[in-house]
Amino acid sequence: MEQTLEFDSELIRRYDTSGPRYTSYPTAVQFTEAFTEADFKRWAAATNAERPKPPLSLYFHIPFCDTVCFYCACNKIITKNRKHAVPYLEHLFREIALQGELFDADRPVQQLHWGGGTPTFISHEQMRDLMRATGEHFRLLDDDSGEYSIEIDPREADAETIAVLRELGFNRISLGVQDFDPTVQKAVNRIQSEEETRAVLEAARAEGFRSTSVDLIYGLPHQSVASFAATLDKVIDMDPARLSVFNYAHLPEMFKTQRQINAGELPSSEEKLAILGHTIERLGQAGYVFIGMDHFAKPDDELAVAQRNGTLYRNFQGYSTHAECDLVAMGATSISMVGDSYSQNLKDLEEYAARIDAGHLPVFRGVELDADDKLRRAVITQLICHFELDFAAVERDHGIDFRDYFAAELEGMGDFVRDGLIELDAAAIRVLPRGRLLIRNICMQFDRYLRESRGGRYSKVI
Ligand SMILES: C[S@@+](CC[C@H](N)C(=O)[O-])C[C@H]1O[C@@H](n2cnc3c(N)ncnc32)[C@H](O)[C@@H]1O
Ligand code: SF4
Repeated sequence: MEQTLEFDSELIRRYDTSGPRYTSYPTAVQFTEAFTEADFKRWAAATNAERPKPPLSLYFHIPFCDTVCFYCACNKIITKNRKHAVPYLEHLFREIALQGELFDADRPVQQLHWGGGTPTFISHEQMRDLMRATGEHFRLLDDDSGEYSIEIDPREADAETIAVLRELGFNRISLGVQDFDPTVQKAVNRIQSEEETRAVLEAARAEGFRSTSVDLIYGLPHQSVASFAATLDKVIDMDPARLSVFNYAHLPEMFKTQRQINAGELPSSEEKLAILGHTIERLGQAGYVFIGMDHFAKPDDELAVAQRNGTLYRNFQGYSTHAECDLVAMGATSISMVGDSYSQNLKDLEEYAARIDAGHLPVFRGVELDADDKLRRAVITQLICHFELDFAAVERDHGIDFRDYFAAELEGMGDFVRDGLIELDAAAIRVLPRGRLLIRNICMQFDRYLRESRGGRYSKVI
């Protein structure tokens, strides 16, 4: 498939609305406390009974950060006291043991991810202990064939950390950068030099990490097209295989630390759009293709290859190449996807620890998908990953007549056709280069919960 993108600021402004990021469907807004530990166990058993047994994807949440970045919307705990990690890890190890009992020991861990917060907040010894505990309860791959990734804050890692992580089996890293401009860094309380960032990326390459990725954010205070262009040039020069360019949504009522950002210093919406336009142009010139939803990759990176082969997938970790895995997420706030269910762990560290102390899994809410949810999830995933939807394939997999089942949705897509976002005929929807940045809007048409107006508070599409 073609992996091109067309930027039209007037069009984007017209379609600028809030919407989910579709790392799950239904989204977390639909999770309820009616879903319990017993339901999770039932789903785990059901997946063990599938033939072939699906492989596993494991996620571990390490919530701690040393200092706060004012823009941050992640689930994190700010502390300078490294000892806080000790009781947390003890409980995490016990959760690993409880979860390990539920999944057959012969199911290989094809994908593994440490996220945060800042996973490199913990010591090298604690990292070794965490991977050892995981290996005691799950079948880790020892031939480097899995996709084992970690989020790294370059201020919290050096060449030795990278060597330890490689030794533990990691083969992918993503680095938080956001912006290299000193004025922007000061305004968001994240002082991070180009040198320390480059050193971590170079160490990762020297250690043989398969893929490197960098996170940037546009829309931060004091950013302009020129200042962000300078950051982009520095990052392009560092040559990561992937780039995530996130849109900063200023929601100080929802995220307390954002109150420390002076709204008067934020770029105007016109400037933000211009930054996005320049970013797309510059990344295209530098040889990156648009994967979708904030993500860019080199054409030979696995994500870009998977998109061209039709095997790309999207889950809580963003885009991925492992569609077939059950996702078992451990640690406070983390979200699992096992069989046809999603479930989330308790968010408060004390409550999380107390549930484990009582010998229970810390699951506190979730949702089971019905046939309609599964159908809509398949449609949304296909569109968001591949920008193309073949009705016959959906009809075959789900036993429906597409145009009949989705008559109202298709009817509602007239504007998309008129505005050149999509091509719609009797057999398929094709998202055109002008519609790719607006893929969320297109997916939202197929979201039953939004249609029934039971959606929640979401960030802006662009
Ligand atoms: C868990 S952090 C990455 C690891 C590490 N904590 C760090 O910051 O380097 C995940 C990423 O989320 C993005 N992020 C956090 N808050 C955001 C916000 N309010 N808007 C957009 N992106 C955000 C940042 O790009 C950040 O790198
Ligand atoms: S961006 Fe990363 S380092 Fe900064 S507060 Fe958020 S999770 Fe922590």
